[in-house]
Amino acid sequence: MKTIDYEALLQQAKTILANNWTGAFTKPAPHLYPHQWNWDAGFIALGHSHYDMERACQELRSLFRGQWDNGLLPQIVFQAPAAGGRYFPGADFWQTHTSSEAPGDPITSGITMPPVHGFVLWELWQNSGEDPQLIPFLKELFPKVKALHEYLYEYRDPMHEGLVYIRHPWESGTDNSPTWDEALARIAIDKMKLPTYERQDLQHKKAAAQRPNDSDYDRYIYLVDLFRRHHYDEGEMEAHCPFKIQDPLFNGILCYSNECMAKLAELLAEDPEDFYGWHAFTRGALNEKLWNRVTARYDSYDLHQQALIPTYTANSFIPLLGGVPDPQQAQRMMATMMGTHVQERDDIWNCPTYALDQAKVDFQKYWRGPVWININWMLSKGMQRYGFAEDAQLLREQSLELIDTFGFHEYFDPRKEQTENGYGTDGFSWTAALCIDFINKNK
Ligand code: DGY
Repeated sequence: MKTIDYEALLQQAKTILANNWTGAFTKPAPHLYPHQWNWDAGFIALGHSHYDMERACQELRSLFRGQWDNGLLPQIVFQAPAAGGRYFPGADFWQTHTSSEAPGDPITSGITMPPVHGFVLWELWQNSGEDPQLIPFLKELFPKVKALHEYLYEYRDPMHEGLVYIRHPWESGTDNSPTWDEALARIAIDKMKLPTYERQDLQHKKAAAQRPNDSDYDRYIYLVDLFRRHHYDEGEMEAHCPFKIQDPLFNGILCYSNECMAKLAELLAEDPEDFYGWHAFTRGALNEKLWNRVTARYDSYDLHQQALIPTYTANSFIPLLGGVPDPQQAQRMMATMMGTHVQERDDIWNCPTYALDQAKVDFQKYWRGPVWININWMLSKGMQRYGFAEDAQLLREQSLELIDTFGFHEYFDPRKEQTENGYGTDGFSWTAALCIDFINKNK
């Protein structure tokens, strides 16, 4: 293990967050992502909370300005003025003003992202040292996060089984994960009917080769177009969307946020019952429907095909975060992970996001293999709660070593033989924010 100057690394991370701060929120990256993103904001708030709680609160307040009347928390809030960089699909493309549920200002996209906000609030409370001065802010955000969870259970769980579905790969946060390949391939694209569009992400030359393919993008755009043609009407989208998947990362995070919101409810003298109920409901459903006893992973489920999708991504381990598996299941999951992701081999950086023994693994392409720091963060937290303290520590240390060696990238090549392992954009805010959190937790 390389010696790291933690103080210097901490300063670099803070500088990145300071540079990406716009005055109202923190951009996920200086150019590639110039607006405010949903789960990015959650992770970024965690970083700020260690040294500037005011900014952490502002980050979340800013994000929730974009919440819809029906509770949906959008994947992107187009905070005006968007400082630096161009992004597609931008505010005009989404046409969310055609929905009566969307706020007029700020303009937002019309889909959501993994619901990290409940657990982020709990982390802020912990990181404040349980400072009573934070209580008014927690009281302010509590009903908003509750409205988000209500939205998810009301509109994304059509069979009332405790599992919510995503209707766009961007909602998963793990955009071009191999888990979505077949569901996307079933969507036939008629180029004549697809709106014309120009990708902006490919302008960023260094990142271009590691970004999703054009055929993925056609389908991303097809789905957005479908939603806007239905004016974001929940019933219509539910009826017509060809991509509806229950994913263990989304539901594992929801489970953990439910648990944290129940604790916050107790703290704030609010009613915790809904959250206890949802936590048990989703935990039970993950174990009954998505647990794969052969592979010791949580699979995904395609609601359209009514079939499980065998899942070999790191998403399948995220239920550890939410206390979903029992101790025996957790033990088996760790063994699986050791075999196919977190290698004890010293030629691999932990934790590749796709199993190394799968033919489709691609060490350079976005969510098809590279290491992502937010996944490491969630896994290390999950391992910690099940008592796998050394493994959790290993993930924290390897994350810091990766960042210290290659910079604050968006994602990293898991092969140690590579000399340039940092991919995607540099100066990536959640890498910096979670680096700050890791360093503080390592103290
Ligand atoms: C992108 O544009 O790549 C984002 O991941 C969408 O949320």
